[in-house]
Amino acid sequence: MWQPPERIKHELPPTAWPTAEEAAQALMFQPIELGPRTACARTWIPAMVPWRATEDGFVTPDVIAWYRRFAEGRPGVLVVEATAIRDVPSGPLLRIGHDRFVEGLAQLVSAVREASNGQTLVLIQLIDFLSIRRRPARDKYFSRFLTITERHREALRLLSPDPATTLVTDDDVRAHLGALPESDLPYVLTARELEDLERGYRERVTDTHLPHIKELPQVLPGLFADAAARAEAAGFDGVELHFAHAYTMASFLSALNTRDDGYGGKRPHRARLPLEVIAAVKKRTSRKVIVGCRYLGDDVIEGGNRVEDAAWFGVELAKAGLDFLSISKGGKFEDAKAPKVGWSAYPYTGRSGYECMPTIYSDERGPFARNVSLSGTIRAAVRAAGLHTPIIGAGGICEFAQAEAVLARGEADLVASARQSLADPDWFQKIRLGRGDEIRRCEFTNYCEALDQQHKQVTCKLWDREALDAPDVTLASDGKRRLIAPKWRR
Ligand SMILES: Cc1cc2nc3c(=O)[nH]c(=O)nc-3n(C[C@H](O)[C@H](O)[C@H](O)COP(=O)(O)O)c2cc1C
Ligand code: SF4
Repeated sequence: MWQPPERIKHELPPTAWPTAEEAAQALMFQPIELGPRTACARTWIPAMVPWRATEDGFVTPDVIAWYRRFAEGRPGVLVVEATAIRDVPSGPLLRIGHDRFVEGLAQLVSAVREASNGQTLVLIQLIDFLSIRRRPARDKYFSRFLTITERHREALRLLSPDPATTLVTDDDVRAHLGALPESDLPYVLTARELEDLERGYRERVTDTHLPHIKELPQVLPGLFADAAARAEAAGFDGVELHFAHAYTMASFLSALNTRDDGYGGKRPHRARLPLEVIAAVKKRTSRKVIVGCRYLGDDVIEGGNRVEDAAWFGVELAKAGLDFLSISKGGKFEDAKAPKVGWSAYPYTGRSGYECMPTIYSDERGPFARNVSLSGTIRAAVRAAGLHTPIIGAGGICEFAQAEAVLARGEADLVASARQSLADPDWFQKIRLGRGDEIRRCEFTNYCEALDQQHKQVTCKLWDREALDAPDVTLASDGKRRLIAPKWRR
């Protein structure tokens, strides 16, 4: 992962854990309305993909155990990982693109209800993503993947004015391209072809020459609405529409979206598809269902959205009747590192990825509550428009006084904590009970994120080697790590 060049190693914020009486008065533990429902606390566990579904997208006992463990800590809201809305193969990522997935998801919801004693609201994050391929070997790229054009012939002729050079057939051209030194490739290939070679082919929402990309605005509202209806049937309290990071809907919102069909360009056009998705989802679900979205307070890529864009979108999304706006940052393909041959690009390896999941090796500002100025700006814009939509802030939130300060300053209405909750799923409950000094504190060095990058079952380094031989422990497929945090022995 990219790291700020300063590489300042930050200490964890000092702790000031409250007594149970103080916690009872704390902002964190006050209820808050989320559209039609009330969260019992302003604490939130955002989506985290743990790579525990079956290869064909079904809930497994390990998926249920993962969410049950988080629910034992009784967060106000628990968001189930990014779940694919299409019924197409997508590896061990949960899917909700067909009714056959509903039964397993319903079991997951029941487990959360039981483990939290009905206290935790459970949402599911609905995602659509475009096709991405692994980085090809150079010879394969030239022999099989590249579409030969006149431009290639012309550039080769200019590079090799030898009249004996034969460039008659496409195979001639492929052979010559394959033999070129690296330094000549930028003269012969387009920027996009060079990227396909060095990073693997990746579709964009602007590839409107491809019929299935052109049709996204016609197709996606229905797909999201069907998925949301299934989420309701499975018993979820609501859905989080994934409009963030490197995926389809975030790409529609981004300033890099230059589509000229009314769904790209100016901000109102970029917001059009997200608003149509929201309208379709609200139409297909009952009024009991919470409908919110996660989107970016800053794309953190050249030419992408900045917080001014995000504040403008926040007002439009709130006006559309969303019940919450969860703010994330970065996590884009555009600045991701080139993967090794045979691997796919991972959108959390560049600067924008760092900003999404900042580590203790940072710049002056450090990783802690790093991104709440974004949620604060968006919240201020939404409030100035006369709307009361709750705003969720995330990024390095891991301590009581820090979380309270975020809420007190109005930088968010709920505090989301992913890695600290993975390090200690009981941490909210420990604070509430005045037992903060028993919290296992996240070290923010991103061992978990590295596992995610390799699509390995995600665990935390602070507990995954503990008591491996205990009778109730399930091990990861490598046989070396436990899959969920040990029980809190009170
Ligand atoms: C292993 C892992 C998986 C993640 N998966 C998702 C996901 O499915 N959807 C999402 O919106 N964010 C995902 N995130 C990002 C987190 O929700 C969160 O925004 C980020 O980790 C910053 O919050 P934190 O500092 O509290 O960890 C993931 C993070 C981690 C560490
Ligand atoms: S693996 Fe590291 S960064 Fe991830 S939750 Fe555990 S301590 Fe935190």
